[in-house]
Amino acid sequence: PVSTGGDSLRSTMKLMFSQAGNVVFPGESSLDFEIAECSNRALGDYQCNSAMKIFAELKDRGDTRFKNPRSLAEAIIQAIPAENSFFEKLAVAGPGFINITFSREFLAQEALRVFHCSADGTFETTRKFRKLTAKRAVVDYSSPNIAKEMQEMHVGHLRSTIIGETICRALEFVGVEVIRLNHVGDWGTQFGMLLAHLEDISESSDFEVKNLQELYKQSKIRFDSDEDFKKRARAAVVHLQAGDKHLKEKWTDICEVSRQDFEEIYRLLDVHILERGESYYNYLIPDVLSELIEKEIAVQSDGALCIFADGSDSPLICRKSNGSFNYASTDLAALWQRISDLCADWIIYVTDVGQKKHFDAIFDAASRAGWLKRENGNVSLDHVGFGLVMGVDGKRFRTRSGDTVPLKSLLREAQSRCLDSLRGRESTLSDDELEDASRIMGVAAVKYADLHNNRLTNYTFSYERMLDLKGNTAVYLLYTHARISSLLERAHTQDLEPLSINDLVLKDEFERVLALTIMKFPDVVESVVQDLLPSRLCDYTYSLCVTFNEFYGSCKVLGGEQERSRTFLCQATAISLRQCFHILGIEPLYRL
Ligand code: ARG
Repeated sequence: PVSTGGDSLRSTMKLMFSQAGNVVFPGESSLDFEIAECSNRALGDYQCNSAMKIFAELKDRGDTRFKNPRSLAEAIIQAIPAENSFFEKLAVAGPGFINITFSREFLAQEALRVFHCSADGTFETTRKFRKLTAKRAVVDYSSPNIAKEMQEMHVGHLRSTIIGETICRALEFVGVEVIRLNHVGDWGTQFGMLLAHLEDISESSDFEVKNLQELYKQSKIRFDSDEDFKKRARAAVVHLQAGDKHLKEKWTDICEVSRQDFEEIYRLLDVHILERGESYYNYLIPDVLSELIEKEIAVQSDGALCIFADGSDSPLICRKSNGSFNYASTDLAALWQRISDLCADWIIYVTDVGQKKHFDAIFDAASRAGWLKRENGNVSLDHVGFGLVMGVDGKRFRTRSGDTVPLKSLLREAQSRCLDSLRGRESTLSDDELEDASRIMGVAAVKYADLHNNRLTNYTFSYERMLDLKGNTAVYLLYTHARISSLLERAHTQDLEPLSINDLVLKDEFERVLALTIMKFPDVVESVVQDLLPSRLCDYTYSLCVTFNEFYGSCKVLGGEQERSRTFLCQATAISLRQCFHILGIEPLYRL
């Protein structure tokens, strides 16, 4: 290769080292070269530490061509064509580490790539993500429950919505077609209670379902204290699932009330997701269970239909002893449908870590049933788990009265705090513009606070922390972007396009590091997609801003000697930042 062609730096280096490996060891196809960022910036940009491992492997096989890993590393370097312009330096250190320092020409040339965006503003080039074989993914996320205690959709569902949406965007970014599915809980026991309760209190036929939360509470009290009512509630679920017309109508009303609440949240978050709730799969369940019985994967046990996974003694119950279907029955049918009808080759579920066992069991059943086998590559299944949302008091995030916090008020609170803080600062924005900026900033702050933690850990919800101007927050990122934008506005370079590597000089070390950071973007997206960890992109976005601010602090841009080149570098930074924002679901601000 003579350039990355838009591929990640890591893949490009890997390929180059493999080719050199083929020269040194002809016919040896199994050599694997791992490339990583250099831990010590003074030694190089990237590094390859594989010489030691390869040496050991060869030695095991009695191959004694090299006397130590160091000489093997030297030979690899020698085999990399000298005429390529990638490197300023390739050096062996210690027992056989290869440190890679990119040339300034290469950095400039690659930084120019950022200017060649497609019409929608995304880099065309990263789309040919090498290792990815999946073409169509289903992402099952958000998925709140209708008519439950937390009918308002609680913070756990907010996490799922935010993390899931970023995963969808990252996948789309690398060229995967994504089907977003909202697997809402619209079919469980809670409906039996509600329907039975409604029957008693709504004599007139034009009774309107309004305050679902209140109705849920009332019916729950009756359910827990009145045996007769309990029986009626259970019977109502069975009738509903069997298609009773009157119950179905009431059920539709209930769902509609919830749906409107949910829609408002999705609008605020700018999330567009297809609702396909549990009820959708009802018609498929009997056939899917029959198949599993036939294949001897599901078996009768104590009257219930169960699936026993290898080595696990608690079974997955997929039909209750009274014959009714449950959460697992639905998930089995849904998985079958997504593979067979939607032809997805990657299915991703985003829920709290507590559901890991459930999904492991479902995945195990699917695998044993042979659903995952395809002629060209298998279907991949992933459970993307996340931890709890905690309050600053170290307990589960709740309101003072112990209720779950309604999401609408949570987002509004973040926005109103942003407005206060914006008003407190000097700004040229009009009142309307301030309102608008705080709307964007508040939502961004909530999303970013969630995404920037490793999702598997619990995270503490704190307005102070997420709105900290100097911290690793969306507010800091948005301010940095606005700063660059106002600089570019003063430079009047909107219509200018850099044409050649001579337009980017990269003389100063700060310029060089900024260009290198910009180039790491495809590596980062690659690793986000590989491990489904949005926090990696947050770390990167933050480091891009920090690197930019360091550069800006020490390199004069406007009116300086390198004005033209440095303006292009600023522009490349702004474009890269917006790419990150797009995947994180953050709307950019241009003035603050
Ligand atoms: N409604 C479920 C809950 O709130 C999440 C559903 C996740 N998706 C799935 N296919 N099971 O816990």
